[in-house]
Amino acid sequence: MKKLELTGIGHYFQGKKGSVPVLDHIDLHVNQGEFVSLIGPSGSGKSTLFHIIGGLIQPKSGDVHLDGVKVTGEKGLIAYMPQQPALFPWRSIESNAALGLEVAGQDRSEALAKAREWLVKVGLGGYERELPHVLSGGMQQRVSFLRALLSPQELMLLDEPFGSLDALTRQDMQAWLLAIWEQNKRSILFVTHSIEEALFLSDRIYVLSNKPACVVEELTVPFPRPRVETVLQDPKFQELRHYVQGLLRRETTTHGSH
Ligand SMILES: Nc1ncnc2c1ncn2[C@@H]1O[C@H](COP(=O)(O)OP(=O)(O)O)[C@@H](O)[C@H]1O
Ligand SMILES: [Mg+2]
Repeated sequence: MKKLELTGIGHYFQGKKGSVPVLDHIDLHVNQGEFVSLIGPSGSGKSTLFHIIGGLIQPKSGDVHLDGVKVTGEKGLIAYMPQQPALFPWRSIESNAALGLEVAGQDRSEALAKAREWLVKVGLGGYERELPHVLSGGMQQRVSFLRALLSPQELMLLDEPFGSLDALTRQDMQAWLLAIWEQNKRSILFVTHSIEEALFLSDRIYVLSNKPACVVEELTVPFPRPRVETVLQDPKFQELRHYVQGLLRRETTTHGSH
């Protein structure tokens, strides 16, 4: 189990016309075994924050701690599903899905066997030996999701994992993610555009402002687990959905005013 803590994360990109501030003093945490979502306007800096947590970008200020140890800028400590599937075009689909297991030192044939078992579950049976280019965007996203799911690190970052899936596949994926998470309680930080998805899956939600992003609200989701679809009809669910929608609407109609 892993606890993630971000303190005072600030970042800007150097552009032709000067520096563009993207993250403004972000403080957030994911407790051991907790499922936390980030929701915020497009372009607010969510993927940048994930790159920082994954050690791919060094933040201009602030630190990342895992279980109390400072790991700012260190790679390889988390299971990470990027917003773009980023599959290796020369590796077969099964070998792409098994990558996280292999990198972690699991025997290759065992890793592939596990990947094959899961490819069938996510509706990709028959594609195991093909190359990624034969898959649609949504299918590639499922392979990328499996790669993160099968990676052994106890903290998992998922950047809009179900964004390009149709509604039914999306529901299946959500159900798998919840089932797996409820079995072994990894810590999850999840980016989504969907307020319903965030409310359905999470223990807590951070709502981010426009760029430069800061945390405008942190809410605890009160519904018991295991979560079932009927929670969507709960009046409290609708109330929270409207509340978050209001916060986001305020962000998309004001620009950089904080
Ligand atoms: N490597 C980069 N160089 C310059 N600007 C970038 C870079 N990566 C992201 N940005 C800018 O930072 C802002 C936040 O991007 P991003 O983190 O992808 O937002 P989100 O994931 O919330 O949609 C955007 O305005 C984007 O154009
Ligand atoms: Mg993004």
